[in-house]
Amino acid sequence: MPLIEWTNELSIGIKSIDEQHIKLVNMINALNDAKLTGSSNELLGKIFTGLTAYTQKHFTYEENMFAEYGYSHFDEHKRQHNELIAQVIELKNKFVENPQGTINDDLLHFLKRWLTNHIMRTDKEYAEFLISKGVK
Ligand SMILES: [Fe+2]
Ligand SMILES: [Fe+2]
Repeated sequence: MPLIEWTNELSIGIKSIDEQHIKLVNMINALNDAKLTGSSNELLGKIFTGLTAYTQKHFTYEENMFAEYGYSHFDEHKRQHNELIAQVIELKNKFVENPQGTINDDLLHFLKRWLTNHIMRTDKEYAEFLISKGVK
């Protein structure tokens, strides 16, 4: 069973965003699988670096949508994104400095909450607004 299961609960109802969220879920699951199968630090590092890069790309995508449609909670949402990015970069740097044992259950469960809480609490707040503007 994957660490994070994609369910309807995680869907915000906008196709392009759901697809990006699925990609993030898959990347965290891949990191978990790589850890469980005892993959090399090199592979773990590649997945982790990919996750941080794709997170930044996804957040920028959302922020561009907010700007385009004039979302009123833009600043608040962007502040959360900045915090989440800082957290994941800090963890990735820790791994780079000392890879042995850094990808453990605590870190994986942190990443699971890190992503799913943001989607379910904060991203869902903008979904209704964007859908009302005709975004699908
Ligand atoms: Fe998101
Ligand atoms: Fe977001």
